[in-house]
Amino acid sequence: MTAKLIDGKAFAEGLRARVAGHVERLKTEHGITPGLAVVIVGHDPASQVYVTNKAKQTVEVGMASFKYELPEDTSEADVLALVHELNARPDVHGILVQNPLPPQIDPLKVIEAISPAKDVDCFTPDSVGRAVIGLPGPRSCTPLGCLMLLRDTLGSLSGLNAVIIGRSNLVGKPMAQLLLHENCTVTIAHSRTKDLPSVVRQADIVIAAVGRPNMVKADWLKPGATVIDVGINRVPAPDKGEGKTRLVGDVDFAAAKDVAGAITPVPGGVGPMTIACLLANTVTTASLINRLL
Ligand code: GUN
Repeated sequence: MTAKLIDGKAFAEGLRARVAGHVERLKTEHGITPGLAVVIVGHDPASQVYVTNKAKQTVEVGMASFKYELPEDTSEADVLALVHELNARPDVHGILVQNPLPPQIDPLKVIEAISPAKDVDCFTPDSVGRAVIGLPGPRSCTPLGCLMLLRDTLGSLSGLNAVIIGRSNLVGKPMAQLLLHENCTVTIAHSRTKDLPSVVRQADIVIAAVGRPNMVKADWLKPGATVIDVGINRVPAPDKGEGKTRLVGDVDFAAAKDVAGAITPVPGGVGPMTIACLLANTVTTASLINRLL
């Protein structure tokens, strides 16, 4: 292994401690307890784990946590009614409706219903627009976490070539905006990109966000590149026993670690940063709602 291992777990711990400090100041100096409401519809096992972790960490940093677990057959109208109720509540500063949603609920309608002031995911058109033109507000959690790790690893990102693999609204597109604000030269590659390996080989920074286990190969990388692996893929692990699984990223870590200059592991890289950034965003929205920023 020649690459520096980027320890997202340790960085997220430090970030949560800083968030807890902000929460304490909001409480003691302004009488505000930031509150985060998380809504989950149905029983998707991965979502349940995420939501439980979100609620636990929200309380750990001193914020109020409001968790709504709705049955799988909840109507779209009922979810929208809950969102409107949360929009109006003064003790709620952040609203997150966990994706994926059951098929009877249009996720875009839910996004449109969330008050932009409380949009800690940075999903609403208003928050996305604010992020694009550089106005204060929350930033997309996973891309923000990636950016923090990059800055911590590389210092200034100015002038670097960044290749993002994946064009989702959740990661690829907002990641590109954040990196543009850092003065990177940004390429978004996707499933129709021609000769992906040669595009990736130009990159000083590679962000892999495709959801395909071990897709990015070591010989796609420019030696010394910084590699941020957003993928969290569960794959069979027969070596651990019958029916066992393990988490792997979108990058072939075992080989890439000998070519990259720095790389995030999976698990323990980007994953822990997402919730920490969600908590940081809730401090941001609580501060903006109360005109403290
Ligand atoms: N499902 C997986 N990741 C996320 C996220 O960041 N926000 C929401 N709302 N749902 C998700």
